Amino acid sequence: MKKYDHFENKSKSWDMSSLRVKNAQSISNAILKNINLKRDMEIIDYGAGTGLLTYFIAPLVGLIVAVDSSPSMLHEFREKSGDFECETEIVEGDISDLPEERQFDGIISSMTLHHIEDIPALFQSFHKALKKGGFIALADLDKEDGSFHSEDTGIFHHGFDREELGILASEAGFEKIEFLDAGVIKKPHRDFSVFVLIASKV
Ligand SMILES: C[S@@+](CC[C@H](N)C(=O)[O-])C[C@H]1O[C@@H](n2cnc3c(N)ncnc32)[C@H](O)[C@@H]1O
Repeated sequence: MKKYDHFENKSKSWDMSSLRVKNAQSISNAILKNINLKRDMEIIDYGAGTGLLTYFIAPLVGLIVAVDSSPSMLHEFREKSGDFECETEIVEGDISDLPEERQFDGIISSMTLHHIEDIPALFQSFHKALKKGGFIALADLDKEDGSFHSEDTGIFHHGFDREELGILASEAGFEKIEFLDAGVIKKPHRDFSVFVLIASKV
């Protein structure tokens, strides 16, 4: 059965929101300041969507594999792939759709964790998909009151408590866990702060 694409009505205009572009840039600045990216690295952008974060990280790495469950968002990613300054691959699906034996230097992600119901299982899959010494750099909202999204379909978390999320990362085997402030998304009714969780597979 064909899965419902929650982003079908949003994908075409996704990149037209300056809030989203600015947020991706702030997340990428936080990542670049804290992780030593190299041109020979192969990384995953989990929930890459149209590639807003991929765009900013691409000049610093060798390959980005865009993993996303939405065909419409990936259509936009594909249309832009000539603009990304590194090799890209597209995997339509989840992290489990990557071959088990394939391992990566890092996993980045922007604003996708709140769409994932089972975070402990996701962190375990991330840990498996990384080489020793690999990193995660995952950005999402701090705990919020549920008013970030005007519509709740496909949303499993109203942001995250940093301490609780850190414990889940540690339980999955990650070490050197830290949280960075990646900026604030200013909506008309209130501000929403964004963190980046950084950790390593030692
Ligand atoms: C809020 S969008 C963020 C897109 C992009 N990272 C950005 O910052 O603009 C969340 C993305 O996560 C993807 N997504 C949601 N659940 C997923 C899953 N289980 N596996 C892979 N991707 C998923 C959606 O299709 C969507 O493209």
